[in-house]
This record gives sequence, structure tokens and C-alpha cells, in this order.
Amino acid sequence: MNILGIETSCDETAAAIVVDGTTVLANVVNSQIDLHTKYGGVIPEIAARSHLEVINPVIDQALAQAKLTWDDIDAIAVTYAPGLVGSLLIGSLAARTLAIIKNKPLIPVHHILSHFYANFLTATPPTFPCLALTVSGGHSQLVLFKNHAQFQLLGQTLDDAVGEAFDKVAKIIGLPYPGGPAIEQAAKLGDSERFKFTKPRLDNPYDFSFSGLKTAVLRQAQQLIGKDHNFPSFEIAPLLSKQDQLDLAASFQQTAAEILVQAITKAQAEYQPASIALAGGVSANQFLCEKINQACNLSLIHPPIEFCTDNAAMVASAAYFLNKPTDPYQLQISPNLSIEDL
Ligand code: KG4
Ligand code: ZN
Repeated sequence: MNILGIETSCDETAAAIVVDGTTVLANVVNSQIDLHTKYGGVIPEIAARSHLEVINPVIDQALAQAKLTWDDIDAIAVTYAPGLVGSLLIGSLAARTLAIIKNKPLIPVHHILSHFYANFLTATPPTFPCLALTVSGGHSQLVLFKNHAQFQLLGQTLDDAVGEAFDKVAKIIGLPYPGGPAIEQAAKLGDSERFKFTKPRLDNPYDFSFSGLKTAVLRQAQQLIGKDHNFPSFEIAPLLSKQDQLDLAASFQQTAAEILVQAITKAQAEYQPASIALAGGVSANQFLCEKINQACNLSLIHPPIEFCTDNAAMVASAAYFLNKPTDPYQLQISPNLSIEDL
């Protein structure tokens, strides 16, 4: 079954064609990073306009890359929730229109679930029950998948997502957007033991909180440059020494990884999963993967790097395994829909 996936939930316009949820024939991603870098984060209006400009060429490119025509496409899958309103709207309108005029079934896909399905694009896909940690710019969720359609949300972030914390810390210490890859590179040259940041204690051991860690880095940076709590965060970076910047990056990454590892090892002991999978943009972080591998006695499955961040191959894969077509005339976007509500 050839599924055309479409993903526009944030700042990547993506289309992909995947056979039977596992074999990627085409994977096209138009990243908007260059448009947003100068603002230090995603500007929703700019994101939506860019999606509108490139959505049709990106879909055409996916068909060309796969050497397929519309006759070969069995269904269209699209991210309908959660995400930025304007961004979701462009992808879902494109998918609905194409489903109607090309007469194809339309399969709506939840973005967080689709991140997990990036793991089915690997040679060793997850076996059930699978403990999955999805860590992206918008979400940090620990989910127990009993099978494809049955899953339990064990915990999630109560404030900032871990990727968001990477992005905000990077901005404070003067590293470029997106902060995750920049912090990972800087941390290789820094001392992760220099600063000790406290980890949050929460009622549910599977919930996360990263806003306190971000503030702790901010306070440490203000102290390093001899300023008080009122000193504006955007004026800190030029006053920090290179070594302080690298050590803050390394110490932050170390603490963020420890918070995630703590939740995973506890859940592993309680639920005894057959496999552990990582997903979402932050799963591209090699340091985090190594820490989880060291702490768990099951080998960690994580997507190939090109499927860690937002892409449409994972959307097409999720659509194949979950396969719940809907009426294209009725599909609505749901910017805040949690997997708990599914
Ligand atoms: O999954 P994704 O592409 O978009 C969302 O659904 O949010 O994730 C983007 C997030 C950004 O916050 C980015 O900083 C983070 O993933 N990220 C990383 C790395 N690569 C991307 N975080 C840590 N280490 C990385 N290597
Ligand atoms: Zn994502």
C-alpha cells in the first residue's frame, strides 16, 4: 500500500511516500530554519506563508522522487493535530483537496503518535509492549504502546518541552536556533560537571518539567557575568566567556538527559516493556541516546537522524498502521489535541 504523507505542523513542509508503513520511496522536507533563525524561534505567520508557497512543489517532488503517479497512490495521510494553527491548516487543506479531486482515502494522523512511527522506518522496528519517549520542540511524553491502537500516556511535560528548553537555553547563552544541535556540539567541548542544576521532584514520576532547569541556567549565566536576576536574558550572551558558554551547554544537556533517563528507567522497571523507543527532534541527540542505552538493559530503538525531526514519512507510516480514514469534507484541524483525547 503506497501512502502519500503530508506534514506541516510547525516549520517543515514535508511530503513522503511510504510502502506498507516501512519502506520509504520518497522523503522531501523543506525546512524553514533560515526564515526563522534571525528571530531566534518560529514565527507562526511566516511559517504558514512559507507552507503555502512550497506545499504543491514539495508534493510534486515526492511523486517524482518515488517515480510514481497519482494512480499509484492508495491513500493520503496528513497531520491534523497538534501544532501551529496556520501551519496545520495549509497541510490539511492540501490533503483534503487532493483526496477529493484524486478520489483517494484520507487518513488524519496525530503528530506525536507519528513521531513514534519513525521507528518503523528502521531495520529493527519496535516490538510490543513498547515504552516510547517522544521528545520534541513542542512535547515531552512517555507513552506505553501495548499495540498499534492501544497506548497509555504515562506522563508528559507540565511546562516547557525538552526541545523548547534546548532552544531557550541556546538563546540565553548565545547559540543559534535550533538550539538542540547547537547545544549538543558545544557540549562536546564543555565541562558537564562544572554546574550542578537541581532536578524537579514531581508527584507523577513520569511527568517532566524543564522550565525550572532553563531558569537555573539563566540565573547561573547572570551570576557568571556579575549581574542580578533583573538583567535581561537577551543581553547575557555577548558578556559570557566562550568557556562559560560551553560549560553551561554541557551541564544543561547533562541534567536534561538525567531527567529523561530517570523517568525511562523507572518506567522500564514498572512496566517491563519488550522494547524502548525514542522519537522526536531531541532523539537526534547522540549524548541522550548513549545515556539511555547505558541505563537500560534493553537496546534503544531510535529513528535514523532524518526521521527524528519533523518529516512526512513518519506520518505515512502511522497512517498505515493505525489506518483510520475520514471524510475529507469533515476533517478539522485540532491544534491542542493530546493523545489522551484520542
Ligand atoms: O520534532 P521536531 O522537529 O519538531 C517538533 O515537533 O517540535 O523537534 C524540534 C526540536 C527543536 O527544539 C530542536 O532544538 C530539537 O528538536 N533538536 C535537538 C537536536 N536536534 C533537534 N535537541 C537536542 N539535540 C539535538 N541534536
Ligand atoms: Zn514534531
